[in-house]
Amino acid sequence: MSQKYHIVTYGCQMNVHESEKIAGILQRMGYTETAQNDDADIIVFNTCCIRENAENHAFGNIGALKKLKKQKPELIIAVGGCMTQEKGKTEILKKKFPFIDIMFGALNFEELETLITRKKQEKKKVISIRETAGEIVENVEPYRTSYPNAWVNITYGCNNFCSYCIVPYVRGRERSRKKEHILAEVRSLVQAGYKEITLLGQNVNSYGANGTAGANFAQLLDEVAQIEGDFRLRFMTSHPKDFNEDVVKVMKKHDKICKLVHLPVQSGSNTILSAMNRRYTREKYLQEIQMLRAHIPNAEVTTDIIVGFPGETEEDYLLTEDLVKQVDFASAFTFVYSKRQGTKAATMDGQIPEDIQKDRIMRLVELVNTLTRQKSEKYVGKNVRILCEDYDKKKGLYMGRDEFGRMGYFESETDAVGKFVDLHITKANGISLYGERVKNTEEKE
Ligand code: 5AD
Ligand code: SF4
Repeated sequence: MSQKYHIVTYGCQMNVHESEKIAGILQRMGYTETAQNDDADIIVFNTCCIRENAENHAFGNIGALKKLKKQKPELIIAVGGCMTQEKGKTEILKKKFPFIDIMFGALNFEELETLITRKKQEKKKVISIRETAGEIVENVEPYRTSYPNAWVNITYGCNNFCSYCIVPYVRGRERSRKKEHILAEVRSLVQAGYKEITLLGQNVNSYGANGTAGANFAQLLDEVAQIEGDFRLRFMTSHPKDFNEDVVKVMKKHDKICKLVHLPVQSGSNTILSAMNRRYTREKYLQEIQMLRAHIPNAEVTTDIIVGFPGETEEDYLLTEDLVKQVDFASAFTFVYSKRQGTKAATMDGQIPEDIQKDRIMRLVELVNTLTRQKSEKYVGKNVRILCEDYDKKKGLYMGRDEFGRMGYFESETDAVGKFVDLHITKANGISLYGERVKNTEEKE
């Protein structure tokens, strides 16, 4: 019987996709997947460190394995991802959880097979972390688990050093994959039947900035969208300092490209944006939204917002609320500022007390929810094309997303996963839409 692996993933889409690559490595070693810890022979934690609660979550789950490891000493526990990449973190992990067998970093997960082999041979703890990123490794075939959606990295790392953010410290400098590699990957995914491709990067707009990738982002997007086949195309994350009209024109040119931009604003106050080192103003951000909607009137925007950044006054916070109302985001991810050791903001004066942070996040969440609810309600009575992603066993309904990321649920007698389906929306509940399949429309398989 084959040995089994279980991967626990924290954090962003980038990490989710990296876990698919880790799964690919383990599958090629002969391991098969299990959803439980109990019958796994190797458990891999792919960690995140962007906010303190992501770290605490991982700490809790790793700690909970102490008993299992005692009962089953041959079980291999491996911890990798962004957290191990942080300065001094492996020492803390070693002390707190002496039963961890392997530690690797986000910059060398490709070495996992070698590390596992070493662990089996040497019978002692294996720790291997790279301080700086090496050349992009192209030959790690992911084991994809998100059909009909597929994620494709276009850049790794980040050069922006937003003052609150730990990503540039743990993910290294920005590197762009060569255009040919990206095009080849997307072509083969489309041929394999994937229906939604998302190009991934911390700041996709600076793709190719060092001149060696073979294109800039607008050119890359244009070429990817020209690939034949029935699929839709997304990209994330865009940075307002680099987002531009060339990209919008390419979006407009191709039906395949979803008319949705994830454009994190972080704050509506220029004082805070400057302290965050975001390198754009509230006015520039609003101009970009205007430019986008001038070209593509139905375009939607989603965003990320941080409240409680050092020095944020009530007036600054209210400017964020005001911007949220002005832009009319399709949805927004809202975060309480989390102090990250080693970042510039961690040593800034004016750290905001927790009760004020909590009060602001509650007010912002309330506002965002009200606005998204209102937006969803406008869809009742309309037809929406969604890509069916899954069957929701609890609800007994199929679910999918429209091009703007809105979730739609529906009944179907036949398996609809991987199909584009037109829904007539009958009900909206929060951000979810409920609808009936439109009969007699040509359904795209
Ligand atoms: N505290 C809170 N939120 C953060 N983000 C990044 N760093 C922090 C931090 N230290 C948020 C930003 C970013 C998203 C991925 O996570 O909003 O866009
Ligand atoms: Fe962090 Fe800013 Fe880079 Fe995004 S652009 S990963 S927020 S440093």
